[in-house]
Amino acid sequence: MAQLWGGRFTKETDQLVYNFNASISFDKRLCEQDIRGSLAHVNMLGKQGILTEEEKNQITDGLEGILKDVREGRLAITDEYEDIHSFVEAVLTERIGAAGKKLHTGRSRNDQVALDMKLYIRDEVTELDGLLKEMLEVLLKLMEENTETFMPGFTHLQKAQPITLAHHLGAYFEMFKRDRMRMKDIYARMNMCPLGSGALAGTTYPLDREYTAELMDFAGPTRNSMDSVSDRDYLIELLSAMSTIMMHLSRFSEEVIIWNSNEYKFVEIDDAYSTGSSIMPQKKNPDIAELVRGKTGRVYGALMALLTTMKGLPLAYNKDMQEDKELTFDAIDTTKGCLLLFTGMLATMKFNERQMEDSARRGFTNATDAADYLVNHGVPFRDAHGIVGRLVLHCIEKHIALDDLSLAEFKAVSPAFEEDIYEAISMKTCVEQRNTVGAPGRQAMEKVIEEARAYLAK
Ligand code: ARG
Repeated sequence: MAQLWGGRFTKETDQLVYNFNASISFDKRLCEQDIRGSLAHVNMLGKQGILTEEEKNQITDGLEGILKDVREGRLAITDEYEDIHSFVEAVLTERIGAAGKKLHTGRSRNDQVALDMKLYIRDEVTELDGLLKEMLEVLLKLMEENTETFMPGFTHLQKAQPITLAHHLGAYFEMFKRDRMRMKDIYARMNMCPLGSGALAGTTYPLDREYTAELMDFAGPTRNSMDSVSDRDYLIELLSAMSTIMMHLSRFSEEVIIWNSNEYKFVEIDDAYSTGSSIMPQKKNPDIAELVRGKTGRVYGALMALLTTMKGLPLAYNKDMQEDKELTFDAIDTTKGCLLLFTGMLATMKFNERQMEDSARRGFTNATDAADYLVNHGVPFRDAHGIVGRLVLHCIEKHIALDDLSLAEFKAVSPAFEEDIYEAISMKTCVEQRNTVGAPGRQAMEKVIEEARAYLAK
């Protein structure tokens, strides 16, 4: 047991209590951030004359040595320390002696851990943004290639109107674009430095908080020392934004699973992203999509757990807050992993264009257009709706599509039908007619694709 606070105690900590309290098994992830924060802190203490130039240099060299040794695998972070802060300070003191004990001047583990976590999260937010961008790039490429790949658009999972694959994927483009905006917002809002807030009430040393904030690229120091050490809003915002990313991935997964099913056959997931069955030789399962869908619950769970942990906490720091770490780390790992895998699966997936178009045609997605055709030939919409409804019923009985009907069959229900009905209800025409902003028509779609290109290029 190695801990920083034995002075006031007369008995050893019970081993179970020690284990229950310790956080090194998970906060060792914050080692780099912890040392970076300490380097800035010591730099400032030197500038302010709180440490001598020599002490500052000694500590700085010591910390840099530890960082290097940990990075290069020469120094292992072991469970004999209570947390990562104790580990760094103990190794430092072991290596440089008395000066090491001055590192913690004007600082508490409360503002220290708040800083470490913010430094860590800032990088993760940037990484998540990068993964979202890669997803958008794959989506854009597929959109560019598929402005004439017709497929059914659904409502209630019932075939509704024809769209294109570009249009369908474009919906996900918008979702992941908003997810990126959320990352940007989170970064901007959280980017205030808590270091120098002490345990809760600042310190009596003449710290230069602006200076440390600047050294670590924060927009400035936080404005209330009690809030600084007990604010976990940014983690809740991140967990919420990641829950939204996962919700998007999960919906997308659900579609891929449906599209990949034996009944739909819209797509074929690449062998590299599929799995087999131990008993059924014919199987090729969409396990990756299913796992992404499944792991969504885990990220939602982390959000709920942290909200619940925080709801009853009086100001300022309480140990409950240590629970933020495992939850957030796991949710970040999960979300990043899912984004990466889904992007790879999407990039290698084969789209079965013939099958998609056929499904749209056979699914009567052009029924609205047939009714519109009649309206354009003077039939009131309500009557047109009824006429086409009767035609659809007739086709269902004969197991054919609308455009398989002969002109005589069309005319039998309404004399308004002419030879050009076939052209009017082709998938291509149905889609081409829809060119309002955001619609699947090629003109409308190309404008959106143009904007998407410009957005990703900047
Ligand atoms: N391991 C603690 C955490 O993650 C660090 C802060 C400890 N502070 C304290 N007063 N016990 O929250």
